[in-house]
Amino acid sequence: MNPSYPSYPSSRPRRLRRTPALRRLATQVRLHPADLILPLFVREGATDPVPVGSMPGVVQHTPETLRKAATEAVQAGVGGLMLFGVPASRDATGSGGIDPNGVLNVALRTLRSELGDATVLMSDLCLDEFTDHGHCGLLAADGSVDNDATLLRYAEMAVAQAAAGADVVGPSGMMDGQVGAIRAALDGAGHTDVAVLAYSAKYASAFYGPFREAVESSLCGDRMSYQQDPARSVDEALREVALDLAEGADLVMVKPAMSYLDVVRRVADAVDVPVAAYQVSGEYAMVEAAAARGWIDRDRVITETLTSVRRAGADVVLTYWATEVARRLSPR
Ligand code: PBG
Repeated sequence: MNPSYPSYPSSRPRRLRRTPALRRLATQVRLHPADLILPLFVREGATDPVPVGSMPGVVQHTPETLRKAATEAVQAGVGGLMLFGVPASRDATGSGGIDPNGVLNVALRTLRSELGDATVLMSDLCLDEFTDHGHCGLLAADGSVDNDATLLRYAEMAVAQAAAGADVVGPSGMMDGQVGAIRAALDGAGHTDVAVLAYSAKYASAFYGPFREAVESSLCGDRMSYQQDPARSVDEALREVALDLAEGADLVMVKPAMSYLDVVRRVADAVDVPVAAYQVSGEYAMVEAAAARGWIDRDRVITETLTSVRRAGADVVLTYWATEVARRLSPR
C-alpha cells in the first residue's frame, strides 16, 4: 500500500470484473433453458395464427402452428410449456374448459401425442378464458364470484386436463381451497401422478392487460375480490403459499415477477419445493415497446430481467421469450 495514501482500498471488488473470463468465473446466477417455461395460446377454429397486438411476436396459434412452436421450444431446450385456450364461444359456467373437445383439452392431447414425454406439458386451470363474463369463477346470483361452486368446476377441469395429457395443471384463479379440491379430484380419478403448479401468490395486477387481449377476455371490472392486493404485506403471500403446500401443491408460483421480486425472495426462502415466477404479458409488452422505439437494448434488457428474477430466488420463470432466450443460451 502506498504509505502516503492510506485510504487506498485493499479490498477491491473490481478485481473479479477485469476480464470476461473473470466475470464468467464469478457468475453466481446463470440462466439455463430448462428453467424457462413458454406460455402458448391456441385459438379454436383459427386457420392462420392471429398476432396479439400488444405483445409483438406473440400469436394465438392454430393447432398446426401450435405444434410447430411447441416443437421448436422443446428443441431449444425449454423446460416446459404452459397452454392457454381461446375458445370460439363462451358461457356462464365455462363449459368449454371441461369439454374433452374444448380447445385447450384438444391441444393437450395433440401435443402429448406429438411430443410424448420430451417436455413438461402444463395447462392453465382457470375459467376466465371460458366464461362469457370473463371472471375466473362461477358467479352467484348477486354477481359475486362464488368460491365453493367454482371449486367443483375446477375439480372437473383438472380431471379433463389430466385425461387429455397434462403433466402439470396450473390453477390460476385464486379461489380459496383450489389446490386441495383439485388434488382430491385428480387422486379420485386415478391421476395421482399429475402435479399441481399453484399460482399461490397472484396479485390483481395491471400488468395482465396484454394477456387479456391475447385471450380476448370479456372481463368488465376487476379481479380484486380474489387476486391479492399489491398493497398487502408479503406475509399474506407466505400464508397463501403455506395453504397451497398444505393442500398438496407440488410447485408454487409468484405472479407477476418484476414488481414482486421481494415476494419471490421471501417465498423462495420459506419453501422447499420449486418456486416459479411468471414474467407476465405487461412486463413483456413494456420491454418490446421501449425496444421498438430504440430506447433500450432489447436483448440485454431481456437477459437482465430474467437474471434478476432468478437471482430473487425463482427456480423457473414463465416467459414469452423462452424459446428465443433458450436458443441464445445454447446456440446450435
Ligand atoms: C388467468 C390468468 C391471467 C394470466 C394468466 N392466467 C390473467 C388474469 O388473471 O387476469 C396473466 C398472464 C399474463 O399477463 O401474461 N387465467
